Amino acid sequence: MTPNSQSVLRLLRQISPDPEFSSLRHIICVGDAAATIAGALKEKGFELDVDKVRTLGYLHDVGRLIGPGSEHIINGYNYLKEQGFPEEYCNICLVHSYPENDPACILSTPPDPVSERLIFDFLPRHAYTLSEKIVILCDLMCKYKVMTIDKRIVDVLSRHGTWEGTQNCILAILKLKAEIDDMLEYNVYDLFPEIAENL
Ligand SMILES: [Fe+2]
Repeated sequence: MTPNSQSVLRLLRQISPDPEFSSLRHIICVGDAAATIAGALKEKGFELDVDKVRTLGYLHDVGRLIGPGSEHIINGYNYLKEQGFPEEYCNICLVHSYPENDPACILSTPPDPVSERLIFDFLPRHAYTLSEKIVILCDLMCKYKVMTIDKRIVDVLSRHGTWEGTQNCILAILKLKAEIDDMLEYNVYDLFPEIAENL
C-alpha cells in the first residue's frame, strides 16, 4: 500500500507518543511546510502530489525517533526499508541533509566514510526530485516553527559547529531557495506569514 501522511503520522505517534517531543514537532513542521510549498507549486502548474510531499517531510527524520541523532540518516533509511516502505520514501532519509547530491554538501558534521558508506554510494548517483528538494528546503526553514533560512542556519551551526564544507553548503542552500523562488515567481517566505513572528 502506498504510504500517506495520515498513516505515517499514526506510525510516528506510535514510535513517539509524546506530542511535545522536539523531533516529532520538527518533523510535523517540515511536512506541513513542505505541503504548503508543494500546493503553491502545483497551482503554478508543476506536477506534484501534495500529500506525498507532506509524507516525505514527515518521514525525513524518522531516524531521530528511533536512535541517536548522529546515526539518524542511516537508521531512518534502514528502518523504513525494514517496514516495507517503497524506495523513494526511504531515500528521503539519505538526501535530506544534503542541499546538493554531494556527501560534502552538508552544513556541519560530514558523513563517516565507513559507517555511512551508503551516503557516498547513493547521493552522487541520485538525481533529486522536486519533492525531495522541497523537503530539503523545509528542513532548512523549520525548527518547530517556520523561520528564515538565515535563522535556521545559525540555529544548526551554533549547536553543531562548522567544518570546511560549511561555506559551500550555505551557497548550495541559497541556490536551492532561489530555484524554488523562481518556480513560484515570488519569495517562498510569502507563503508563511508566521515567519514575521519568528524573526
Ligand atoms: Fe530535519
